[in-house]
Amino acid sequence: YMNYRVPRTRKEIFETLIKGLQRLEYRGYDSAGVAIDGNNNEVKERHIQLVKKRGNVKALDEELYKQDSMDLKVEFETHFGIAHTRWATHGVPNAVNSHPQRSDKGNEFVVIHNGIITNYKDLRKFLESKGYEFESETDTETIAKLIKYVFDNRETEDITFSTLVERVIQQLGVKAIGNSVPSYPYRRGSPLLIGVRSKYKLSTEQIPVLYRTRNIENVKNICKTRMKRLDSSTCLHAVGDKAVEFFFASDASAIIEHTNRVIFLEDDDIAAVADGKLSIHRVKRLASDDPSRAIQTLQMELQQIMKGNFSAFMQKEIFEQPESVFNTMRGRVNFETNTVLLGGLKDHLKEIRRCRRLIVIGCGTSYHAAVATRQVLEELTELPVMVELASDFLDRNTPVFRDDVCFFISQSGETADTLLALRYCKDRRALTVGVTNTVGSSISRETDCGVHINAGPEIGVASTKAYTSQFISLVMFGLMMSEDRISLQNRRREIIHGLKSLPELIKEVLSLDEKIHDLALELYTQRSLLVMGRGYNYATCLEGALKIKEITYMHSEGILAGELKHGPLALIDKQMPVIMVIMKDPCFAKCQNALQQVTARQGRPIILCSKDDTESSKFAYKTIELPHTVDCLQGILSVIPLQLLSFHLAVLRGYDVDFPRNLAKSVTVE
Ligand code: F6R
Repeated sequence: YMNYRVPRTRKEIFETLIKGLQRLEYRGYDSAGVAIDGNNNEVKERHIQLVKKRGNVKALDEELYKQDSMDLKVEFETHFGIAHTRWATHGVPNAVNSHPQRSDKGNEFVVIHNGIITNYKDLRKFLESKGYEFESETDTETIAKLIKYVFDNRETEDITFSTLVERVIQQLGVKAIGNSVPSYPYRRGSPLLIGVRSKYKLSTEQIPVLYRTRNIENVKNICKTRMKRLDSSTCLHAVGDKAVEFFFASDASAIIEHTNRVIFLEDDDIAAVADGKLSIHRVKRLASDDPSRAIQTLQMELQQIMKGNFSAFMQKEIFEQPESVFNTMRGRVNFETNTVLLGGLKDHLKEIRRCRRLIVIGCGTSYHAAVATRQVLEELTELPVMVELASDFLDRNTPVFRDDVCFFISQSGETADTLLALRYCKDRRALTVGVTNTVGSSISRETDCGVHINAGPEIGVASTKAYTSQFISLVMFGLMMSEDRISLQNRRREIIHGLKSLPELIKEVLSLDEKIHDLALELYTQRSLLVMGRGYNYATCLEGALKIKEITYMHSEGILAGELKHGPLALIDKQMPVIMVIMKDPCFAKCQNALQQVTARQGRPIILCSKDDTESSKFAYKTIELPHTVDCLQGILSVIPLQLLSFHLAVLRGYDVDFPRNLAKSVTVE
């Protein structure tokens, strides 16, 4: 956060940073830190103040007020402050390992960073051999020490900070990095955006990207080239040298209460602010580079990222599904003409129809959305559909061809594994399609075309409404592909009709909340919970089990009922809780077999079934009865009781639902 000629007290600066961190806490929350520096006529001796704390952002906030040496009322005319909430990759969560990391005990340079520096061990060894002492176990600290090394060994006194940053970046053998160095935020891999606020007119709406004319090969190389002079035409500032504030963040939710005017940085962009002027530059020019970065106006509202009356974001997001599902379809499904139009795909439809196969790639819940819709996609597109976990897809060096169409499903649009799989497919010239929930995310920008699922910001670490919206987006794609298939018209009409009634049916499922809470009361002391089903509802089981394990820490497994007799049946006895998803679809009879096999071993199944299913309920220990919809959409209704159940189980077990241990919302590391 940087201001220029906007007087702010130290307290206000801290509050802005802490509030921003709280909005981002869902991304990582094992430790946090802030650093600030400022200018005014009284504070002659400048010195970066650094405060770090193990634990959540609240703990850091409390720590700030315990710092006797800091006068919170001091006002700065110009300042910068950086803050970070961490999800540990290298080094245990503690204050020393948390960010900002510093170059030396005098805090000359401080750094925050998201991602992994793959060559940090070599860099650290090199820097230690030069006498630089490390204090943490993090990879990030090498950036801080390296910048100090480059600075200490500078060939001219007037080396600019941006040159320093560029030289350091050249040395980082990074795979995924989106770090920000005070005054010079730099993006590679992880997202970074800049919010701009000023009551004065801004000099431009499009900032031209500046390039250096020569590449800098290594730290010792002298860079003699100068960057193009910064003047009014190459910088963003408030006209007439007027007051302006810049907010740099890895997610718009951290800054939306200050401004909705943002610039999304591209990979390898370096943003520089000096004297209230923002410039964006790059070391290397690429043929495909956009020569400027535009200021965009975000539509996100603050209340969208507030909890309202709910006790957790996850609960709020579960209950939002009647609206989020509606928003996914809004303006796209025409229920009068039975047609579907996904604007982001329409220009590529011909090419997609000609492809050899569809490959749908994602991680975790997003992968489950692919599993859930595979069958209906095969049916409607009449194409082979592969569903792939991004990490495994890459591990196998899966053959991909230019006549493949590859879908990348990702709520955040930033998941490193999915992003790498996308780049892998692009290198092989496949057509790439993004299905994301985050406008401006890396996946949405790097794909050839795509669908925005419009579910609204999802904050709870456990994904809920994004799943149902991803599900619907993929079904809509299938419907769009099959528009001219005569033989599929009745089926299409049935599905579109089903889509129309979904929001109402979801409300009906949500009204079962109390019953599900009662079930949770019976189950919350158990160690294990199996979830079993097949066909269209196999994905429901995988997704339900994932929700349970990630927020309740119980062991939970999604089991394909067809595989029961090939192993999992051995787990069944009187004690083992089993949830069976049995719906009135083509797998109904086969699910009845599985039910018999379970009851024959004294299993006591809790059955999720259709309201009109008298057969299954005869053998059930308990039933949760759901409204009926078209077979291929039933998974949207059947997953909701499992979302609710995991939520209640976690609350009863005393866990923080929105901040499950060891997890982060956006996994920007491989
Ligand atoms: C589970 C969950 C994760 C994510 C996965 C992919 O509740 O949220 O499994 O689904 O990390 O994240 P995105 O969809 O952002 O790519």
